[in-house]
Amino acid sequence: MFDLILRHCTLPDGRKDVDIAIQDGKIAAVEPRLAAQAADEIDAAGQLVTPPFVDAHFHMDSTLSFGLPRVNQSGTLLEGIALWGELKPMLTQEALVERALAYCDWAVAKGLLAIRSHVDVCDPRLLAVEALLHVRERVKPYLDLQLVAFPQDGVLRAPGALDNLRRALDMGVDVVGGIPHFERTMADGAASVALLCEEAAARGLRVDMHCDESDDPLSRHIETLASETVRLGLQGRVTGSHLTSMHSMDNYYVSKLLPLMREAGVAAIANPLINITLQGRHDTYPKRRGMTRVPELLAAGVPVAFGHDCVMDPWYSLGTGDMLEVAHMGLHVGQMTGQDAMRACFTAVTETPARILGLEGYGIAPGCRADLVLLQAGDPVEALRLRATRLLVMRAGKIVARTPAATATLDLPGRPADVDFRLRRG
Ligand code: FE2
Repeated sequence: MFDLILRHCTLPDGRKDVDIAIQDGKIAAVEPRLAAQAADEIDAAGQLVTPPFVDAHFHMDSTLSFGLPRVNQSGTLLEGIALWGELKPMLTQEALVERALAYCDWAVAKGLLAIRSHVDVCDPRLLAVEALLHVRERVKPYLDLQLVAFPQDGVLRAPGALDNLRRALDMGVDVVGGIPHFERTMADGAASVALLCEEAAARGLRVDMHCDESDDPLSRHIETLASETVRLGLQGRVTGSHLTSMHSMDNYYVSKLLPLMREAGVAAIANPLINITLQGRHDTYPKRRGMTRVPELLAAGVPVAFGHDCVMDPWYSLGTGDMLEVAHMGLHVGQMTGQDAMRACFTAVTETPARILGLEGYGIAPGCRADLVLLQAGDPVEALRLRATRLLVMRAGKIVARTPAATATLDLPGRPADVDFRLRRG
């Protein structure tokens, strides 16, 4: 006798008509036509049941601040950075907490139950750090929030930034961040990578740097990041975020770089919504897309996740916390329209970021925490196409969000009354 059984589930790996039994908040069995009973049963009716979405790259200290103190009129990265500089002195802890909690509500509704958020540590008051540490505890029952100490203005370039970063880590921030391409020189950028990786190694922490978020093909800090990873034995714990310069790099150089990344066990995070809108802004035509080389990284054996990066903040005035929208954009920008490639885009917002974050008990297998999302779709590709409705979102076996199925009612002679955009045959 189990607490709950979800019957007739389709799983992301293609298994169909599977039953998932849940006991004490964990998955107890995953089998076809499970001959057992439960206190409660849910019929998934052949629809897709997935582990929750995971966002490996976000900025929760700026989210939902759209319009404060003014709107980014040009929509460019530079005006966004200037705007964030104007907003920072006006931030209060209460407002930061309130906006972050509101965003976490959106996330849960969208089946997004784990987020790695960078937090700017360049303000010596560390207001945002304190606020997000508080939020991390508040949301723990329903959302895993991992924090990265992010020196937005450059750990070497901004006075006091290294000290602030260390204080943030002492306070309990989980991951070491960086922004080497924003340091004053290439040499300073490389020095910042070494310094920050040493900090992480000494503390036994993971690393996730904003790395080469630039259209400059000679921005090659990812190379230093890979070599520092090997030097310090950090394999499997280091991530390069954005890596947009790779879009513009010389192909011959990339053919050397990708195996180096693979050898170092460095992961990559692309942020398709933000990369496609912020990169290539100095171009006339042709205009570069800017997203890193996702299919080539995957083919080289480098794990790649898609992140949301921003929602309604100085850099991006759109977004709802929908990781299917993120993956949908990644699929298009990367021209990943092959069947396996489309499935890889789904994995890039579920399993791969879960591995990058080091989440424990993630997945659909006995022993995993019963964090599950029932989607109004038959498989991962259909979920992407429809940005499918999250019918149910479950955390540790308890339903934490529901959304009614998306259907339209027609009034057409000789046609069915309901339409829901799924392909029906036969
Ligand atoms: Fe970012």
